[in-house]
Amino acid sequence: MTSPAPVLTIDGPSGSGKGTISQAVASRLGWHYLDSGAIYRAVGQAAAWEGLDLSDADAVAACATRTEIRFEPGPDGEPHVLVNGKDATRALRSETAAAAASAIAAHPPVRAALVQLQLGFRRKPGLVADGRDMGTVIFPDAAYKVFLTASAAERARRRYKQLKDKGVSVNLDSLLHEIAARDERDAGRAVAPLKPAADAVILDSTGMPITEVIERVLAVLPASLRPR
Ligand code: DC
Repeated sequence: MTSPAPVLTIDGPSGSGKGTISQAVASRLGWHYLDSGAIYRAVGQAAAWEGLDLSDADAVAACATRTEIRFEPGPDGEPHVLVNGKDATRALRSETAAAAASAIAAHPPVRAALVQLQLGFRRKPGLVADGRDMGTVIFPDAAYKVFLTASAAERARRRYKQLKDKGVSVNLDSLLHEIAARDERDAGRAVAPLKPAADAVILDSTGMPITEVIERVLAVLPASLRPR
């Protein structure tokens, strides 16, 4: 019997740097990368395009089932998200898309509809899975789990810079408010709330340079799997 591909889960709140860190770690390891937040954003966007009521759990779950979500490298080398064949990468980065994602992600039938899609990313030589419930719900058997966090103020500052660099205009104060509200909704929901897996290594990256965070995450893996 062949063993399943190893999984490293990286969960944490928004703005904790998960996306950047997970992509860098996946690329250093030569492993696949799952951006589960992008999946929730894509479903929120598809539901909004269809004019659905985002509070209607069953309607949004049906939309999740019929929506085709694909990740492909774009012309800029960055991963692009195609929603029903349409490149939605830019639209999905907006705070409106993030709020829609957070709203639809609270519905149990929507989460259930997206399980198989996420499990399908587990392929050899390995997977880095980025999200909120990767280590608790989707890949509870993952051998390597990290919960990445940072203070809310630092996360708002990072997000501000990230959005500004991408040409999205934002206000730092309103961003801090949105981040706090989203944290509360993500951590307070009944299904798959944002919380560290019991066996996760908790890493607080407040004030830590990205290169150090990457090294600390890689250090969770056994030496035999770490890049030389
Ligand atoms: O990581 P992100 O900001 O792209 O995620 C957007 C929203 O999707 C976030 O507010 C909560 C939700 N989400 C989730 O519920 N479960 C995941 N595994 C990933 C994201």
